This record gives sequence, C-alpha cells and structure tokens, in this order.
Amino acid sequence: MKALFLPLMLLLAATPGMAANLTGNWVAAQPLADGTARRTYFNLEQDGSHISGTIRTNQFYYTITESTGSPADFTIIGTEQDGKTTRHVTYKGKLVGDELQVSTRRRPNAPLIEMVAHRAPTGEGAMPARLALPPLHDVPYNGLAKTPPMGWNSWNKFASKVDDASVRQMADAMATNGMKDAGYVYVNIDDTWQGERDAQGNIHPNKKFPDMKALADYVHSKGLKLGIYSSPGPNTCAGYEGSYGHEDRDARTYAAWGIDYLKYDWCGARNIYKAEDMQAVYQKMGDALQAAGRPIVYSLCQYGLDDVWKWGPKVGGNLWRTTGDIRDSWASMSKIGFSQSDLAPWAGPGHWNDPDMLEVGNGGMTDTEYKTHMSLWSMLAAPLLAGNDLRHIEPSIMAILANRDVIAIDQDPAGHEAQCLWHSGEQEIWVRPLSDGSHAVALFNRAADSAKITAKWADLGFRSAPQHARDLWLHQDITLDGPEYSSVVPGHGVMMLRVYR
Ligand code: GLA
Repeated sequence: MKALFLPLMLLLAATPGMAANLTGNWVAAQPLADGTARRTYFNLEQDGSHISGTIRTNQFYYTITESTGSPADFTIIGTEQDGKTTRHVTYKGKLVGDELQVSTRRRPNAPLIEMVAHRAPTGEGAMPARLALPPLHDVPYNGLAKTPPMGWNSWNKFASKVDDASVRQMADAMATNGMKDAGYVYVNIDDTWQGERDAQGNIHPNKKFPDMKALADYVHSKGLKLGIYSSPGPNTCAGYEGSYGHEDRDARTYAAWGIDYLKYDWCGARNIYKAEDMQAVYQKMGDALQAAGRPIVYSLCQYGLDDVWKWGPKVGGNLWRTTGDIRDSWASMSKIGFSQSDLAPWAGPGHWNDPDMLEVGNGGMTDTEYKTHMSLWSMLAAPLLAGNDLRHIEPSIMAILANRDVIAIDQDPAGHEAQCLWHSGEQEIWVRPLSDGSHAVALFNRAADSAKITAKWADLGFRSAPQHARDLWLHQDITLDGPEYSSVVPGHGVMMLRVYR
C-alpha cells in the first residue's frame, strides 16, 4: 500500500494545477542589511482556479480581488481601500515543492522583487486587532516647545540610510557650523532605526544603531537633543516595528535612552483603527510619554486628518503635521506652504501647525525658492527642521538656514501664525503680528516671472502707515514713505520685511 502511495503523491505534486494547493498561510522574509527582515504574508484560499485571501506587507493590508492561473503559475491582485485612496499590488508566483516563489514590482517599471515564502502557522501575520482605547481626557501641557522646535531630521535626505555615525556627524556639524548658535537644537532620527523586540517586549534598535543611550549621551554632550520616531501601528511607514500594544513600554525605553522628541506617525495604524479613534490613539502615547518621566516633545504625524489642530493640544501634542509629505520641489513646497492660511488660529506657544520638514539645500529648488520656503515656514510659525546633509552646506544655503532675522520671526514668542491678507493672481502678501508690536510682512511672487507687488498698508489692516522696516534677506533698514510700499519680486521669490510703526 505504502509502496503505491508515495509515487502517486509525487506524481500529483509534480502535475501543475492538480493536487497542489495554495491554501494556507505563507510568509516571505527578506533580510535587510540592518539585521531586520521585511515580511510579506500571503493568507491564501484556493478553490479550483480561484484564489482569495489577503496579502500583508509592511503597513499595507490587501484583499485579493483578482486571480488567474494555477499553483504552477498564478497571478493575484490585491486591493487596499483606505478612505479615498485605492492601492493595488500584483504578485506572480508558482509553487515549487514546499516553496512559494513570488515576484512583484513596487511600480509598473520598478525592478522586479523576488521572494520565497514558506508555510507559516495559522494566524501569524494576521490583521492585528483594534486595541481598547482610553476614554478621552485632556493630557496636561508638558511645558515644551514654547516656540516652534528647531533642529534637523534624517528623513528628507537620508531616508533608510541614517545610522549612528551619520547622526553623530550631524550633531557635530550642527554644534559647530553656526546652526546651534542660530537656535537649531533637535537632532531627530526618523524611520528605520528599529530592530526587534525581546521576550519582554522591549524594543531594540537595529544594527545601524548599536547603542541608543550612548548616542543620546553623545548628542547631549554637544548641547543638543535627540529625537526618535515610531507609529501607533504594528509597523511604521517604512515597515519597521511600531509601538502597537507597547506604548507605555516604548515611552519608558525612550526616556531611559535619553530621548527628547518623538514623532509618532499614523501610517501603520490606519487599517486597524478608525479615523474617529485617532484622538484616543494619540492620547495613549501622550499619556505614556508623560508617565515616562522625561520631557519629550510630542510630534503628531497624521497628515492633518480629522482636523488634528482642534485636538492636538488635548492629547499632549506639541506639533502636528497638517499635510502629506513634502518633496524637494517648488510644486510640492509651494502647494503645502501657501495652503496654510486658515490654520493660523490653531498655532500658539506649546502647540504648532507643522507643514512638514525643510527641504532647503537638498538640490531640487533654486536658492530663490529655498528663501521663499524658509520665509514662508517662518511666517507660519512652523517647526524649522532642516532636512539636508549638514556636513556639506554651501554658503548660500547656510545663509538661508541660519538667517537670524528670519528665524526671529519664526521664533517670535507671541506665537501668532501669519495669514494671507491680500492676493492678486499669483502674488500674495502674508502678515504676522509680532510680540514687540512690529509685523512680519512677506510679499510672495508665486509666478515664474518677476512681478511688482504693492503693499497698501490700509488694506493689510494697518491703522496708520508704518514708518520704517527691515529687509530680512538683505539685512538692510528701509525708510517707508506713504500709504504703500512696492517692490519687484523675482519669480518664485519673496520680499520679507519686519515693519515697525
Ligand atoms: C511618513 C511621514 C514622513 C516620514 C516617513 C517615514 O511618510 O510623513 O515624514 O516620517 O513616513 O517612513
């Protein structure tokens, strides 16, 4: 009997589409150089030639909506519906022995990613449950970020290439190149520092960060502060370990390491919690940070969903992103920056609108455009988190990042955010009241060609015409004369004044 059974099994397994069955839970673990692995889970149900189920990769959870072929050569298409956004992913694969060989592309023309999946225990990689959330209450203000935070963040320039050595070098640069003296203090590690959790659930950094406490000590020895990044979901945006279910433990770990700033990114939580859970989800970490016993700036990153400015301070947030991710282009920066006027009432000492980090010096804009970026962010009382490589800064870029006249506007202690008070075509005038009774007035030309812009003081809410001003880019005093002031502003440029009565 046994002698007959074995050859029959081998024959069936070798015959495509016959007995071989994809039904089950499969995991492909692709090792990364930082010692972590990127896992993709295929939870499949095969019914004849029809394959259904789910695909989970990083923070994405796809339902299989189309399938063709047989186990020997199949294609599955997964679809993820997230609010208004629909994402698709296509995997091609074949079952070879007990291995599922699969391939995909991130975008149609991107390189082919090949992986091998093996059978995993039922339930491993399943969609995580929505955790119980605390009732809402007001988390007390932590006393931090009385003016918008200033510093550096790794993401815009380095993305996953940030490591211990580069963070130390950024701290060295910031401490000695004039930026620290100009007010920059936070050195913030964004996504991709995370390793695995140990048996107790404690998070450890990956190979790129051998000793986070030693790194914090080093950054502190330079008179600077260290920031870190996590997500309320099981995975971060880049697919690394999030704080889901470990919020208190992680906050204590950050405090023990000497962390001074946390950016907490919704990304990996969006499939687990509903939009209306967001406030409680962020409150949970707000409470955890305060219980951890170290002053930690709390930066909410959920792209301005659910009118975050209305509840950000209640969860202990010191700043909250108001938009999607910035790119190093005029189109991206100007679209984000010039859309912020209505949010002005929600900013103030301790709690700031965050239109995302600076791209100044990353090469995708002209110096004129970067001046506009820096001016606009300062008018908006935005956090000034440089996103370039601080080890190599051109003098023209340093003159932008370390312009103290402009930084003084950003850091004005009254914390009023500018509003657009006049516009005509692609020209706009924004005004920001300052603590000493003066005003920052920025004449922005969003057009590609230069244009004459006229500030008519009465139209901008000035009861009497101001007498003098300072040009904050030329660092020159100007005598004003009469009810209006005109300037020819270059294409994509700015004339930024501090105007005194
Ligand atoms: C999101 C955030 C970015 C950055 C990345 C990291 O896209 O908005 O600022 O933190 O995640 O993965």
